[in-house]
Amino acid sequence: MKIGIFQFFSKFGEKEYNLNRIENVLTHVDADLLVLPELCTTGYQFISRKEVHDLSESIPDGESTRRLMAICRRKKMHIAAGVSERNGDDCYNTSVLLGPEGYIGTYRKIHLFDEEKLWFQPGTEGFQVWDLGPAKVGMMICFDWIFPESARSLALAGADLICHPSNLVLPFCPDAMITRSVENRVFTATANRIGCEARGGKSPLNFTGLSQVTDPSGNRMIQFGSEEEGVKTVRIDVTLARNKHITSRNDLWEDRREELYQETRNKK
Ligand code: ACM
Repeated sequence: MKIGIFQFFSKFGEKEYNLNRIENVLTHVDADLLVLPELCTTGYQFISRKEVHDLSESIPDGESTRRLMAICRRKKMHIAAGVSERNGDDCYNTSVLLGPEGYIGTYRKIHLFDEEKLWFQPGTEGFQVWDLGPAKVGMMICFDWIFPESARSLALAGADLICHPSNLVLPFCPDAMITRSVENRVFTATANRIGCEARGGKSPLNFTGLSQVTDPSGNRMIQFGSEEEGVKTVRIDVTLARNKHITSRNDLWEDRREELYQETRNKK
């Protein structure tokens, strides 16, 4: 299976521009699955609830999802991409999974970061895995990385590959995702953005780039620089993620002591 990540600068509020950019770049990409950054059609640093509401869209019939689905149909590829979702009065920081046949599913970000708590409802549906045929795929979004339970939940649900649309501002994630790969023996694909947003007199947000794909042994298969834009692709062998042996005597799932983890937490 050939997967890719697209790292770029999305312009705040300019959905038409961002979608045109995505379309133009993806026209030249050959991959089975491409991961795009978090909130990749709207930008990140909102300054009011009204702004969030106005820029968010219903899924799957909103413009961003429809245009991304058209790319999937034309290119016979899958896309995992961060989109700002509106559902009634509520907005969600969401990732959509789309394929050649259309809409597949959504993940609504569970662990909201900082001001996201002012704008979005946290997701309540948990982590889900979809069987795309060549691979079982799950999604988490950006700050979910700091809760190991996110990647663990996806791995326990059978994910071979974790798609990770991001707008990272803290420096630790690329290294942490190596650990997420090793401790779950999964592939991860983090698609981050680059550039800076400083809106409404707020402190600037500097997005850190360094998008990457990691394998179940913790190798970085590909990585971007911190200011680089473009698409990078790599072939992954999902059978590596289905082998949970660590040594001849250790298996990642068999050796878990779930009953003790709970006990430890409750002890004074
Ligand atoms: C983040 O979760 N976008 C930092």
